[in-house]
Amino acid sequence: LDFAGRTAFVTGGANGIGLGLVRALLAQGCKVAIADIREDALAAAVKTLDNQSVMAVQLDVASREGFAQAADEAEAALGPVSLVFNNAGINLFQTIDESSYDDWDWVMGVNLHGVINGVMTFAPRMKALGQGGHIVNTASMASFLCGGAPGIYNTTKFAVRGMSESLRYSLSPHGIGVSVLCPGLVKSHIYASDEVRPSVLSGGAKPVDSAAVGRLEQLHQFGMDPDVIAARTLEAVQENRFHIFPHPEFRDELATVFDEILADFRDYPQDAGFEQRTGFEKMR
Ligand code: NAI
Repeated sequence: LDFAGRTAFVTGGANGIGLGLVRALLAQGCKVAIADIREDALAAAVKTLDNQSVMAVQLDVASREGFAQAADEAEAALGPVSLVFNNAGINLFQTIDESSYDDWDWVMGVNLHGVINGVMTFAPRMKALGQGGHIVNTASMASFLCGGAPGIYNTTKFAVRGMSESLRYSLSPHGIGVSVLCPGLVKSHIYASDEVRPSVLSGGAKPVDSAAVGRLEQLHQFGMDPDVIAARTLEAVQENRFHIFPHPEFRDELATVFDEILADFRDYPQDAGFEQRTGFEKMR
């Protein structure tokens, strides 16, 4: 895949991983639309980038109509989009049993429906354009590894991974690649997610624990540099790899998880139909 001259659309591009992706795409000669809910961060990002090939569009990815409008705006200014990075995401560090329906609606709305909206908006346009391209959905190592605390987050990231894999099979005949980005800890502003929580989805929300947010902020200082994540992501896109694992240190932990899963199988006796029930590749 040739990056130069293509138009990219990056959600959550005003900070963190998204902004790293924007910088890397510009360096590859792409035109880039940065979509983000934070207007001030968008303005600051555009200023620091100081590049004619970039535009900012304010968007809440959870809004279907908003997404289609933002796509129209981006394509009117920069030409048809053939690289999509569904990256915007938030975190809420609390267990499922302590969460409210508003907590669910907020996190599912951004982390899962935001990605769905990106796919539903751009996949038909990319197919009609017929110039191939690539969609990268940002999941997380949390799409494989669960903890008690980020329960809703885990749910959304597992879903993004599954959805991305299915999408990869369906878009491949159109020359459109799909990858799922699964980082570990990254230097970013995700600890401050609560700042962008809509007031209509704040009913039943637990009061923000500023000490816990402070601890998260400190923890994220040890995260990987977004520019490194971005470079590893674009390399994977170039090679059309599905899983993008920028943090090699998780390989052993992942192996343990798969071993635990396999250990739950039992050697039950084979019955009629045994052979026919396997072979998921028939559905690809
Ligand atoms: P970040 O907070 O630095 O950047 C996320 C951006 O998304 C922010 O600019 C924010 O304003 C924007 N955003 C939030 N809600 C939005 C909405 N409704 N519509 C549009 N934009 C919205 O965080 P980071 O870490 O760069 O997050 C990017 C992605 O990476 C997320 O999907 C996150 O779950 C994922 N991730 C982050 C990790 C980390 O350690 N920081 C690890 C693994 C995955």
